[in-house]
Amino acid sequence: MRIRDFGVEIWMNRWEETCRYNLAETCVDSVTVEELLALARLDAATFAADLLAMRLTYGAIEGSVRLRTAVAALYEMATPADILVTHGAIGANHLAYQAVVEPGDVVVSIVPTYQQHTSIPESLGASVRMLRLREERGWLPNLGELRELARGAKVISLVNPNNPTGSLLDVAALDAIAGIARAEGAWVISDEVYRGLDQDGAGTSPSMADRYERTIGIGSMSKAFSLAGLRLGWINAPAPILRAANRHRDYSVISVGMVDDLLASIALEAHEALLARNRGIVRGNLAALDAWVAAEPRMSYVRPASGTTALLRYDAAMTSEAFCTGLLEAEGVLLTPGSAMDMEGYLRIGYANDPVVLREGLARTSAYLATLGR
Ligand SMILES: Cc1ncc(COP(=O)(O)O)c(C=O)c1O
Repeated sequence: MRIRDFGVEIWMNRWEETCRYNLAETCVDSVTVEELLALARLDAATFAADLLAMRLTYGAIEGSVRLRTAVAALYEMATPADILVTHGAIGANHLAYQAVVEPGDVVVSIVPTYQQHTSIPESLGASVRMLRLREERGWLPNLGELRELARGAKVISLVNPNNPTGSLLDVAALDAIAGIARAEGAWVISDEVYRGLDQDGAGTSPSMADRYERTIGIGSMSKAFSLAGLRLGWINAPAPILRAANRHRDYSVISVGMVDDLLASIALEAHEALLARNRGIVRGNLAALDAWVAAEPRMSYVRPASGTTALLRYDAAMTSEAFCTGLLEAEGVLLTPGSAMDMEGYLRIGYANDPVVLREGLARTSAYLATLGR
């Protein structure tokens, strides 16, 4: 199977272990097992005893009932039977495309996006049409354009809240997209790994899975729940999709680890406490980023509404990769070049890391900018 290089993953793999200030990270500052147990108000000694007594079988093949119940509770309409546990959202997305896409199908992908949503359907022989988000529209889709592009489509895919822009589709937009998809009989693959991190209001916006019956909803422990080390995600979809995904999953997953399943269950049963911690981080950090952008004449952006990332537009006559490589060499700060996601002229920042790292990384980025010609 031919597939394009995954731009962002290649960039991150190359630098994230050696940089000093990681402003490319997209997960909310990760928690330790001890912090997780404290948030969940569980006694560490009891947990340790449970773990020591655990017999390490394959566990429940599709995810434990306890875990699938906790995942289903994140949605209005889902039941445990609608949930299939996967190896991260990266596994969920892969299985979702394998389940629905055949050679010759049309897939409409709203871009910029996480590259899986263009490169996997392409590799499966689909024709991928891209709906470009534009900065002047606040990185929100033009729904008239979507209606045109979606004619004859099998799948419409979106990341909501969006990575990399941080834009968020409101209920009216979700319902309009549902109307467009329904008219075509298309599936919507809705990657919602950043759901729960809104800057305003209660913090969790509706899921497409609760607005449209042919949605394949994707979620994960990595980003909003700050537990990427579990490598655990899920698909929330109607039975025929889960059956098709399972056909592929039997060849590539079998089950996720029992320890991961247990820790994810504990985390999701305490999701309100975990999300409250994480919203505190993204809201505090975005205020710091916002103040920095306002004071830095050579940077501008559309303030993100949700998630952990934003696209910065920089004023310097160089490619985004040259900017990022120079910044790493001079100051040890890691950003992601827009070129890694077909967005030359921009830099992606992940602002949900440790607040001290963010502030120091931004100050050092200003020092680097001061050395650059225009
Ligand atoms: C939009 C999106 N989907 C999926 C993933 C993969 O996440 P996971 O760690 O759950 O595999 C990422 C990771 O960056 C992402 O940004």
